[in-house]
Amino acid sequence: MEKDNFIHHRPLWKTHIGFLFAAIGSAIGLGNIWRFPYLCYKNGGGAFLIPYFIALFIIGIPLMILEIGLGHKMRGSAPASFASISKKWEWLGWWQVIFVMFGIVLYYSVIIAWCVSFFFLSFRLGWGHDPNMFFFKEFLMVSNGPFSLGDLRTPIIFSLLLVWFLNWWIVFSGVQKGLERANKIFMPLLFFITAIIVFWSLGLPGAREGLFVYLKPDFSRLRDIEVWRDAFGQIFFTLSLGFGIMIAYASYLPRKSQIVKDSFIISITNCVFSIFAGLGVFSVLGYMAHANSQGFSEVVSQSIGLAFVAYPKAISMLPYFPQLFGLLFFGTLVIAGISSAISILEAFTAAIIDKFHYSRKSVISVLSILGFLGGLVFATQAGLYWLDIVDHFLTQYGLVLAAIFECIILGYIYKTKVLRQHINHYSAWNLKKWWWDASIKIITPLVLIVLLISSLVKELSAPYGDYPWLAIVLIGRDWLIYTLFFAVIIAMYPWKIEPGERTLSS
Ligand code: ALA
Repeated sequence: MEKDNFIHHRPLWKTHIGFLFAAIGSAIGLGNIWRFPYLCYKNGGGAFLIPYFIALFIIGIPLMILEIGLGHKMRGSAPASFASISKKWEWLGWWQVIFVMFGIVLYYSVIIAWCVSFFFLSFRLGWGHDPNMFFFKEFLMVSNGPFSLGDLRTPIIFSLLLVWFLNWWIVFSGVQKGLERANKIFMPLLFFITAIIVFWSLGLPGAREGLFVYLKPDFSRLRDIEVWRDAFGQIFFTLSLGFGIMIAYASYLPRKSQIVKDSFIISITNCVFSIFAGLGVFSVLGYMAHANSQGFSEVVSQSIGLAFVAYPKAISMLPYFPQLFGLLFFGTLVIAGISSAISILEAFTAAIIDKFHYSRKSVISVLSILGFLGGLVFATQAGLYWLDIVDHFLTQYGLVLAAIFECIILGYIYKTKVLRQHINHYSAWNLKKWWWDASIKIITPLVLIVLLISSLVKELSAPYGDYPWLAIVLIGRDWLIYTLFFAVIIAMYPWKIEPGERTLSS
């Protein structure tokens, strides 16, 4: 009886648009608003769009179809889906959801907390005349190295509490009443506010110069492998691939689902949003360069600095309603961030529920407390260093390794043909063998292995970010190793109901 209840009472999205909004909400996150425009600027402007779109079509969309197809067929979270293929591969699903839950979402929530703080600071433009000094010295009080933790930053802790409360509340309320309902409000709001910001910015003096710098192609940059690595890395992060999220979200889809079409819609909407948001970011920076009669390179700063230093500076200089502009900008970051954070939590929550049958309410309550406590290290004075190192290792190695394994397991062990037939059985858009099988079996793993090796070579030639080797090893590498260790242990526990029993036939 328990078995039937468990298998037949899996939550489902109430509406198709609800699923699309939730998946797009997961994809569109902090990375789209501050990371993408900066990468574009750094890597040859408009020319960066070439590797970016190549990465989207040869890797991003095929993997999106794979993850959504897998979750739909197996009707389970990442560990349940891989265990349905073979128990030998269950660890991969656990590793994904563990390093994402006890890694990415910990620091991701801290960055959202900074955005919350800056949202409130916008009322009085509280970053003052020197946002650089304010952000690093007053707000973060950055210490002089990763091992000088210093104190916890109280203003960040309060915002972090608020972020975790929202995360908890939305996931606690369930798939339909929490995730679906929140994203149905968040996504239209996000699109609307971003449109206001972009059109407002385009009207500023100097905006044209900003756009010119943002999109002017410098094709010579395409000879640099770093540009390609950035493009492929960004596609993974931005589409939430390798996180186990899309697998869990797809497990709540009804039998008749348009897997191929939805994967295209989610991926393309996300990338178009990035380019669109970048128009706003660079118009404002162009305005700042114009107003200060400075060169553009002097006003642009690195990813985090772009949102928390360059942008606040520009906001303070706006001729009309700078406070309102600040509220809108940091408000969009908070909305984009929360809709991604909750998807990460759901990927882990679904995995625990699938295997251990605990109630959603208790799983998410414990997870939120652990998430808040685990995030505290990123709210210390050394938090910025930790965040940078952990982010580098989890995204450059964790996500990429997980995707390589996904391709090998689906391509050669389970066989792409089986999943392709399942997807085509339900979808109106037919998945073509020459394109999809070639991508999953050959192109994606090959490209990812080349990028992984090139990252490793670079890694060994000099410590990342000039941090001490000890910090790189203890904080970055070991984070990946410990999460892998826990994944293997959890995978050894027996299932209450065999994961393969929930699988959809086609
Ligand atoms: N896809 C999310 C982002 O880009 C995680 O921020």
